[in-house]
Amino acid sequence: MTVAANSALKTRDIKPKIGTEIHAGKQTLLSGVHAAEIRDLLEQRGVLVFPKLGFTDEEQLEFTRTLGSTARERTGEEVFTISLDPEKSSGVDYLKGAFYWHFDGVIQARPILASLLSAKVLPPTGGNTEFCNTYAAYEELPEDEKAKLQKLRVVHSNWAPLLYHDPEPQQEKLKLFAEFGEVELPLVWTHRSGRKSLVLGCTATQVVGMDRRDSALLLNGLREWATSEPFHYSHKWTVGDMVMWDNTGTLHRATPYDPNCGRELHRTKLEGEEPITD
Ligand SMILES: [Fe+2]
Repeated sequence: MTVAANSALKTRDIKPKIGTEIHAGKQTLLSGVHAAEIRDLLEQRGVLVFPKLGFTDEEQLEFTRTLGSTARERTGEEVFTISLDPEKSSGVDYLKGAFYWHFDGVIQARPILASLLSAKVLPPTGGNTEFCNTYAAYEELPEDEKAKLQKLRVVHSNWAPLLYHDPEPQQEKLKLFAEFGEVELPLVWTHRSGRKSLVLGCTATQVVGMDRRDSALLLNGLREWATSEPFHYSHKWTVGDMVMWDNTGTLHRATPYDPNCGRELHRTKLEGEEPITD
């Protein structure tokens, strides 16, 4: 089926500073005619929702490929099952960190550009995916605050989320997580587009050269600001929904749900295209 390049993409903004719904059929999306427009919207809006699209894994992967290079999981898979059921998903302990604000691939030289999730099985309650727009959160800060933050660097410990859900882990487990490593990153990311975003999340453990208490207060205060109402969107899933987000300009987390409920989402990812630079 051919899709006319001039066929307009039907969209609806969810909130002024984050989130847009895209209403388009599978064939239109798979044709790739709107790929450039979708990538542009992704950067501008942070989160794109495709309500009840019902993509199969193959279709999701094909659509992801229209937007850029797909990234593989640590397991080598291109389509990854997110579930707290060890029978369905590998790295369940690692996934428990997803209940706290973060972005994906913090340790990578180029963190992934985007993640796409499709809902397959949902819990009766809870299990939303929440997002906040770290471009907008930066842009709305007072100018003197921006200037101050611009000079700061932060240690991101990829193992730190373990201590959120298991504060006194067995040493063997901590050793395993410690291998995830840590990295020093600028607090403000100047993207190649010239736009700037805040680099935050539960991996952010210490502002370099700052007193520990002041560092904790600054990072927590910025997290509270960035995830506050104007910049925040909580997606309540319906089976078949697909949601895609700009991993370089947002944070995300899952809200709690019964770990035995069978919740299952399928993820594809777009390879990162730029390093985090100041
Ligand atoms: Fe994540």
